[in-house]
Formats: sequence, structure tokens, C-alpha cells
Amino acid sequence: MTANTNGRDPASLELSPDDMRAMGEEVVRRSVAHLASLSTMPSRGSYDDIDALCRSLREGPPEDGAPLDALLDPLFYDCIPRSFTTPGPGYMAYIPGGGLYPAALADFIADTTNRFTGIWQAAPALVQLEANALDWLREWMQFPAGARGLFTTGGSMANFNAILCARERLLGLDIRPGTLYVSSQSHHSIVKAARLAGIAHDRVRMIPVDDHYRIRVDLLEAAIAGDRADGLRPFMVVSNAGTTNTGAIDPMQSVGAIAARERMWHHVDGAYGGFFHMVPELRPLLAGLSQADSLTLDPHKGMFMPYGTGALLVRDGEALRAVHASSAGYLPDNQLEFYDPAQYGPDLSRGYPGLRVWLAVKLFGSARFRAAVAEKRELAVWGAEQVARIPGIAMDAMPQLSLFAFHLEGPALPSLEAQNAATRNLMERVTLRGKVMLTGAQVGPRYVGRVCVLSFRTRRAQMETCVQHIGEAAAEILAGAGSASAARK
Ligand SMILES: Cc1ncc(COP(=O)(O)O)c(C=O)c1O
Repeated sequence: MTANTNGRDPASLELSPDDMRAMGEEVVRRSVAHLASLSTMPSRGSYDDIDALCRSLREGPPEDGAPLDALLDPLFYDCIPRSFTTPGPGYMAYIPGGGLYPAALADFIADTTNRFTGIWQAAPALVQLEANALDWLREWMQFPAGARGLFTTGGSMANFNAILCARERLLGLDIRPGTLYVSSQSHHSIVKAARLAGIAHDRVRMIPVDDHYRIRVDLLEAAIAGDRADGLRPFMVVSNAGTTNTGAIDPMQSVGAIAARERMWHHVDGAYGGFFHMVPELRPLLAGLSQADSLTLDPHKGMFMPYGTGALLVRDGEALRAVHASSAGYLPDNQLEFYDPAQYGPDLSRGYPGLRVWLAVKLFGSARFRAAVAEKRELAVWGAEQVARIPGIAMDAMPQLSLFAFHLEGPALPSLEAQNAATRNLMERVTLRGKVMLTGAQVGPRYVGRVCVLSFRTRRAQMETCVQHIGEAAAEILAGAGSASAARK
């Protein structure tokens, strides 16, 4: 099968229906076989000779086409396996992404039918489906009817658009005196987004956290007061609905009250934790989230979508429109009755991200998403209880949602440096066993190990393996450290 079988018409890029079908079937066959083998794949692929492989892949644009099989072979045999097995059931590193199969089908439909969903007039009914999907997010987050949103490529771009809304509404053209407040545990994408939005680093305040890694509201208030006294204009504060390092949930109600009193914009970064709000029983954990001025969500995390699916909700939809609405002589007039993506986001031409969410939710139903999200938390709570019992493990953070953090300590690890090195080693050893992939994080002076349960494929069996492998690797490390310290005496 090649894309240029029809050598008689070199200017044509069209394929015959039979060729398209055969190519599609081949891709589906390989992709499904890949998914079916995920549970037996190492949790992190081999990186042996990876530099050499990358160098060997460098090439200029080919002059002539090649058969599809010849292109798919290296992709599926060489490139894909040499990576973190992010869609695998043992992936509990970083914040796991998803990769629901129906979302891939949605992409296939969106890309083959290739309709233009940037402006309402070009595909009104398709845009309405995307508007529905955004409205479902709004409902689950209990934002009011006047809220509007947009699908983004991820949480980083959602945070960026939130800062734009706050800046435009509260600072107008006078940007330089504006100050923005985040906790020292906030995701680095916020500082990056601030810079993109014209808020320089020297106007971003990192507020220290308490023993549970939550923003210190007393220090937040003091920082705001100090900046006002210096003639600056505090305009925005960001709370975390689940930090990346330890899963901490900031006191969003208190932060929201401070923001309201100070006439500041309260943004909640719910990229990791926002979707736990879908589950009514878990909502008390996220109290204050639904009162925020804006909320970052990452459907590619908590809704298990493929990477490239982020979302932003803005309480007063007009604030989002004020940033993005524009017109051009060559385009139809803006209309106000229906949701219109280009009026609420920075893109004109773009993909059709809403179809991923729409198709998956319509196919599975909301109840299954709620059940899956709730199960991830139950697994994390159970796993943390087990890990806490392992000799030598000290817990740094029990799961608020589905993430917990811990470190190794003991008489054989007398210094912080030794504990940090041992904890790093623990993450690596567990990962090398091939069933579970874990990563840690530097949190101030301490390196913590982490388990984050958010892959829809992670079930009880993988959590049991995770606990077992942490226990065995911890014992090996402590035994090694014990004999090394005995030898030194
Ligand atoms: C709390 C938080 N905010 C923002 C982001 C950035 O999101 P993305 O990687 O989708 O851009 C992440 C990513 O892990 C995150 O955990």
C-alpha cells in the first residue's frame, strides 16, 4: 500500500476509497494490537541507544513516497515502545493522561470530514455539539449558566487564557503595576503563562505553603497589603485544586473571600483535580471551586482524553469574549445567540477538540466517568494506607484526591541528602521492575516519592503491584544502606 500508487497523476493527493479503507484498517489493526498489549509492556520502554536512534531518524523531506507499512513498522516497533508507557495501567508517574479509544475515533472523524469549526456559521450544528460538551463541564463544576468556556490544548493554555481575562478586566492597558499571586507549589505553567500575558516575573508573588503544602492565606493577605502599600495593583490570585507535586488542595473558599474583598480575580487551577468535582460525594473536598472566577480543567487528565485536550471555564462569559471577540471584513458578522469558538478563544482555524469529549460522554454516559474518577480516588486512598505501613516509609501527603507523597527514612539514612537519594532510588527501582512507573518531585529541600492514580486503566491489581513493589524496593534500599553504614563504623 502506498500513497502514490496512482503514478499517472503526480499532482493528485487523492486516494481511492479502497486504498483509504485498507490504510485505515491497517492503522486500526496496529493501534488496537498495541492497546491490547499494554498490560504486558514495560511501564517505561527501553532507552538503550536512544540518542543513536534519534540521530538516525534525522532526515530531509523525502522526494518520493513510501509504502504505508514501511512507515508504520519503525513507528510501532522502534519509536512508540521507546517511551514512557503513558497509556499503560501501571503509569502512576507525573499526572497520568488518558487516551480513551472513542476520542481517537472522534479525531479520525474530525480530521477526515475536516469541517471548519472556528466560526459558528461554517458548521453550526458541529459547533453546537462542542458547546454542549463545554456546557457539561460547566454543569459538573457547578458554574452558573452565564459562564462560557473554551477547549485548549492543555492546562497551560487554559491558565494563560484565564490570566488574559483577569488582566483585561482588572488592569486594562495599565499592565505593569499588576501583581499576581500563586503558591510556591503552583504549576510552573502559571508563571510561564503570566509572562506570555505580559505579566513579568517580578510581578508574580510565590506565597509559601503550610505543612500540608497549601497556600498560607495569612501570607497571601500580607503580600497583597504590602504590594498595595508600594503602589502596585494586585489583580489575580490562583488557587490549586490539587497540586502536581503532592496533590494539595488550597483553601479555595478563604482565597476566594480574600479575592472578593480585594476586588481581585480568583482563578482555580484544576488541571489535575478539577474533575473529581464531577462526583457529588467528593465535592466537599473541593469547596470553593465552583465560586471561582475561572477554572482550568484538563480533560486529558481527569476525563482520560488523549493529550491535547484542556479546557477553561470563565464565570462571567463576557470576560472571555472581551479578550477574544474580533471581526474581519472577509468573515461573516459575529452572531450572539450561539456559542462561537473564535469569539471565545485565540484560534481561528483549529481542530475540533469538542468532538472527543462529546463522543466519549455520549458513548459511555456521565455515570461511568463519575464511577471511574471515584474509583481512582479509592485506589489511591487504599494504596496510601498500605504504603504508609511499609517499614522506612514516612508519608508526606496522604491523598486528598488520588495522589500521595512519601519518602524513605531510617537510622541508615541519617541525613536529608541520604533520604533524598534513597527516595529517588526507590522511584527508579520500582520503575525498573517494569510493571509500574513512578516519579518523584523536589519539594523545597525534600525529594518526595509520588503515586498518582489517574489512568482509567489503573485498577486494583496494579495498585496491589505498586504497593508490593514499593515495599520490596524499599527493603532492598534500606538493607543496602544499613550494610553500608555498618561497614563505615
Ligand atoms: C496543576 C497543573 N496545572 C497545570 C498543568 C499544565 O497542564 P498541561 O500539561 O495540560 O499544559 C499541570 C500539568 O500536569 C498540572 O498538574
